[in-house]
Amino acid sequence: MSERKPAGRPVRVALLGCGTVGTEVVRLLHEQADDLTARVGAPVELVGVAVRRPNKHREVPAELLTTDAAGLIDSDVDVVVEVIGGIEPARTLLLAALRAGKSVVTANKALLAEHGGELFEAADASGADLYFEAAVAGAIPLLRPLRESLAGDRITRVMGIVNGTTNFILSAMDGTGASYAETLEEATQLGYAEADPTADVDGFDAAAKAAILASLAFHTRVTAADVHREGIASVTAADVAAARELGRAVKLLAICEREVDETGGEAVSVRVHPAMIPRSHPLAGVNGAFNAVFVEAEAAGQLMFYGQGAGGAPTASAVLGDLVAVARNRVVGGRGPRESAYADLSVRPMGQTPTRYHVSLDVADRSGVLAQVAAVFAEHDVSIAVVRQQGRGEDASLVVVTHSAQDSALQSTVDKIAGLPVVREVVSVMRVEGEES
Ligand code: HSE
Repeated sequence: MSERKPAGRPVRVALLGCGTVGTEVVRLLHEQADDLTARVGAPVELVGVAVRRPNKHREVPAELLTTDAAGLIDSDVDVVVEVIGGIEPARTLLLAALRAGKSVVTANKALLAEHGGELFEAADASGADLYFEAAVAGAIPLLRPLRESLAGDRITRVMGIVNGTTNFILSAMDGTGASYAETLEEATQLGYAEADPTADVDGFDAAAKAAILASLAFHTRVTAADVHREGIASVTAADVAAARELGRAVKLLAICEREVDETGGEAVSVRVHPAMIPRSHPLAGVNGAFNAVFVEAEAAGQLMFYGQGAGGAPTASAVLGDLVAVARNRVVGGRGPRESAYADLSVRPMGQTPTRYHVSLDVADRSGVLAQVAAVFAEHDVSIAVVRQQGRGEDASLVVVTHSAQDSALQSTVDKIAGLPVVREVVSVMRVEGEES
């Protein structure tokens, strides 16, 4: 075994927040202290943990606990790790840390998706590091590959399942045929969904992650407000059954795409919505609370990242990885990657984004009905890829899958079809992803 070099001056760490993730960060810092020292080249010393209620944290040595987060940041610390979540006070605290030249490691997706630019500017002004691997897809190493490993390539698409709660619900609906409401209730009882599931089921959590992924992939500042967002509350058992019948599965996808128009002009589209994907697609096999992200780049081709996207220990793994990176940078006197937003591409509105629709209808089964429905698609310049019809007495079930068209044209087509007297019911409308258009 090679001899270990004597360790340098300790890297002093402040931890802000000590919930599920913070507790695991404290545990790993303690249990792996010797290995971390060897990997960093200096001891990584936890010097304070800022919490709201110190008496609730028996797992942390009492002398480390404080309620004064600002004072802790202001003290002799090198690195600030933030696992509080939410915008304030995290924003103010991290800006103070960065302005004072302290490296920051954060798991805070909402803050980065809304105020990432401001944080990066503060980091640049003082030359501090800002790392945030844990903010997207928990334990999965994804942001470092986008930020560093693929920095020489041209990413064209990032498409993933980045919310475990909604993936658990959709997987369960697919397995049992149950309704969204029943499945959400079960997920809440099992602890997979929060008591207030809004951030997950309405797609806010996934939209924040999509904004971060798009910013890194396309070297462009994208905020949560730029992301088209639809949650899973309107996904019905009929949608899931319709997908099954066509060999597809319903997933809540975060999709970040580089769009090139006829003149070669570039833009990005960033969206979160439920979509049907073929069961043969690698993302279709991602079940339960797992996350997976599919990245396409011009030279690298297709890459898939898969693993646990939430939970104390998995998320703490990503935090510790960042902590080692920023600590190493401090030991050698260097800096990690800065913000890269030079491309400054515009974000295309959802209406102008090319998508494909699956439409399932109950129609009257008589001559001319199919022609009437097809005429509405033609009127909106939407080309039909697949039509399936099955008679059921006086009615028929009609399934139409379109080729790629502007989302607004597809939406108008569905609106008009819903008003046709021959259409008894629009059973299911969903976008189709992951196959040739
Ligand atoms: N609530 C998230 C999820 C994990 O269900 O995946 C944290 O982003």
